[in-house]
Amino acid sequence: MRLVVGVSGGSGIPYAYAVLRALQALGTETHLIVSSGAKRVMSAEGRGPRLGDLTALAAEVHDDRDLAASVASGSFRTAGMMVIPCSAGTLAKVAHGMADNLLSRAAHVTLKERRPLVLVVREDPLSRPMLLNMLAVHDAGAAVMTASPGFYHAPETVDDLLHFVTARVLDQFGLDVPGFQRWKEVPDGRPS
Ligand SMILES: Cc1cc2nc3c(=O)[nH]c(=O)nc-3n(C[C@H](O)[C@H](O)[C@H](O)COP(=O)(O)O)c2cc1C
Repeated sequence: MRLVVGVSGGSGIPYAYAVLRALQALGTETHLIVSSGAKRVMSAEGRGPRLGDLTALAAEVHDDRDLAASVASGSFRTAGMMVIPCSAGTLAKVAHGMADNLLSRAAHVTLKERRPLVLVVREDPLSRPMLLNMLAVHDAGAAVMTASPGFYHAPETVDDLLHFVTARVLDQFGLDVPGFQRWKEVPDGRPS
């Protein structure tokens, strides 16, 4: 399976790292795009994953300025794309079909090809423009998720919270993350 992973400048680079690790373990071919906003956030987040940690997990890394990259074309077949975290700015671009960097172009391509697109937004509180943009991308076919883990699986560590969000995001692509316990299921997938 080939997936595009976009990382934009919302806070929460550890979410991207957790998803990339899970995708690598599942043998997925990931095409990674990291926006300049994401690089800025990465340095502000300090002790979190570094750019090299993310790129080491990808099958191919694309420069966000390279609008001639493979993932800029719909003829390059993928099983879909996620943007994690997705900034309010990137959400607005996707909602309005703007494609002035590779990340927003690849998201636009994913929508026009009617492939799964998952935007994991991170912002609080949500402004009216952001809420309208979320509705616009939803109506255009994307799934809008928030980087807000549930607590009904009794998390003990930050990794548990990251694992929850990772599993729910990969669910959108029909991918199972090992160790994720679903509601009312025992660990082997049977109803409890
Ligand atoms: C430390 C830091 C944290 C940020 N956190 C968020 C955030 O959680 N959500 C958001 O929408 N923007 C956030 N921003 C702002 C975006 O990074 C900024 O709007 C950027 O231009 C987005 O560009 P991009 O979508 O191309 O990455 C943050 C910026 C910085 C420097």
